[in-house]
Amino acid sequence: MGMRINPSILSADFVNFERDFKSIANCDLIHVDVMDNHFVPNLTFGLPMVARMQQITPKPLDVHLMISDVDKWAVGYAEAGAYSVTFHAEATENPVAVARTLRAAGARAGVAVKPGTDVESILDDLREFDQVLVMTVEPGFGGQSLIEDCLAKVTKARRRIDAEKLDVWLQVDGGVTESNIARIAELGADTFVAGSAVFKAPDRAAQIDELRELAEAGHQHAVQHGHFGH
Ligand code: DX5
Ligand code: ZN
Repeated sequence: MGMRINPSILSADFVNFERDFKSIANCDLIHVDVMDNHFVPNLTFGLPMVARMQQITPKPLDVHLMISDVDKWAVGYAEAGAYSVTFHAEATENPVAVARTLRAAGARAGVAVKPGTDVESILDDLREFDQVLVMTVEPGFGGQSLIEDCLAKVTKARRRIDAEKLDVWLQVDGGVTESNIARIAELGADTFVAGSAVFKAPDRAAQIDELRELAEAGHQHAVQHGHFGH
């Protein structure tokens, strides 16, 4: 299994996205944080900006919606061509229905949980999703430290994904750095968001390669010790 490194452009230069996209072109997907100053206490950009990014991006977009009312707004991002659209479980009464509209519009459907939200109800409907995103910081801002307690959800989700033999990506977002990524991969995550860890590095491309190698090593270590149930 290849480990995916998705840099978060929350840490990019907001008036130089095209230039910054080029500096991370060896990544797997580009993580795009949409915030509405309602679901989270911060505001980034909305659909017109993401539709424009879609036209110039060297890699598929991994859109992370930190917005309310996803029943209404999420599908637009899929229709704009985003490869993956992840919405928050806390933002809808019916995550399965939202996921189905995303898949019908041609995107991978992801569902995210904040640090305080249990992942159990999502795991009961696992085959309806293409990605589970475990937030390891309170959503809203980059550059925070990873909350260790959230990692138990990664272990839990990995067990269920393997038990049901599903190809669901398991993403971790928030405070991922070169000092913890191997350990998180060992727990079963395969898709890593890194904002400040990539954009603050003097050589972003080298940092992406380094993070991927560390994740691969963590994953291999767990495989050798029989931690994953394939
Ligand atoms: C936080 C966002 C993250 C953020 C991660 O709410 O969802 O994607 O950019 O940034 P770092 O990697 O700096 O914690
Ligand atoms: Zn994010």
